[in-house]
Amino acid sequence: MKGFKPVLGQEGRDVVWLPTPTAITLRMLEIARVGPADRVVDLGSGDGRIPIAAASAFGARAVGVEFSPGMVALARDLAARAGVSERVRFVQGDLFAYDFRDATVVTLFLTNALNLKLRPALLALPPGTRVVSHLFTMADWLPDERQVLDERAIHLWVVPAEVGGHWRGKVGPMPAAAPGPVAPFTIDLKLTQTFQIVEGGALRDGRFIGIERLRLRGDELAFEWVQSAPDDTTRVQFVARVERDRLIGTVSVGGRSVPLLLARVPEASPGQ
Ligand SMILES: C[S@@+](CC[C@H](N)C(=O)[O-])C[C@H]1O[C@@H](n2cnc3c(N)ncnc32)[C@H](O)[C@@H]1O
Repeated sequence: MKGFKPVLGQEGRDVVWLPTPTAITLRMLEIARVGPADRVVDLGSGDGRIPIAAASAFGARAVGVEFSPGMVALARDLAARAGVSERVRFVQGDLFAYDFRDATVVTLFLTNALNLKLRPALLALPPGTRVVSHLFTMADWLPDERQVLDERAIHLWVVPAEVGGHWRGKVGPMPAAAPGPVAPFTIDLKLTQTFQIVEGGALRDGRFIGIERLRLRGDELAFEWVQSAPDDTTRVQFVARVERDRLIGTVSVGGRSVPLLLARVPEASPGQ
């Protein structure tokens, strides 16, 4: 395979080879906020430019999975020339058979149909894993971010945690110096979820509070509400990480925070 020369549009197993331009490669890795702690996996890696850039420009470890043995040989050669062979690996094989569950970032330049075929495996990755695709989408899993560079779209998804359902827990007491009531209170959250889009409502001590800016990014759930005390009106911030069946975080008001811990309320079984 030494001296293998790729041809634009050459047959690939499920899609032809076309390289991602350098500026787009770098922007994809920037949008995904790749850094030295990351393990980047490029599914269908061609000449290896995305894994090589992830290692050489962002300090990450990276893997390229590519079906064509000639492209794999070329990619290994280019990685050696870039001085990143220790941090970049190329695996020859079918990307659909490759176990990428330890990736923190997955990069794609495939097709809409292939992205959709990969979607269940991507959604099963740990919350917070970033998926970035050159040009192609994930159907109704809308991207968290989208940028257009040189007339090419780059899409970023952050794998969302599962937050749908009923959560309950205690918050407070609030810091005495904070505006508004300080006594501990109970929060109930009732959420529905479509991918990273979350809707729902909250109760404070059983009374509805109008929550705003409800958002989920990876495993971080956040929202705000306006607390009306007799003598003031204050914005309260709720930020928590999803850890299995617990929400662990803080409620902040007036620049002071207190911890919060909510647990999933099991759904009542039929007949209860
Ligand atoms: C459009 S190119 C993208 C190459 C590279 N990711 C980039 O952005 O420059 C798609 C690559 O996927 C490879 N490929 C197609 N089907 C594959 C499969 N089932 N398993 C592994 N690689 C595949 C092709 O050989 C080709 O190199």
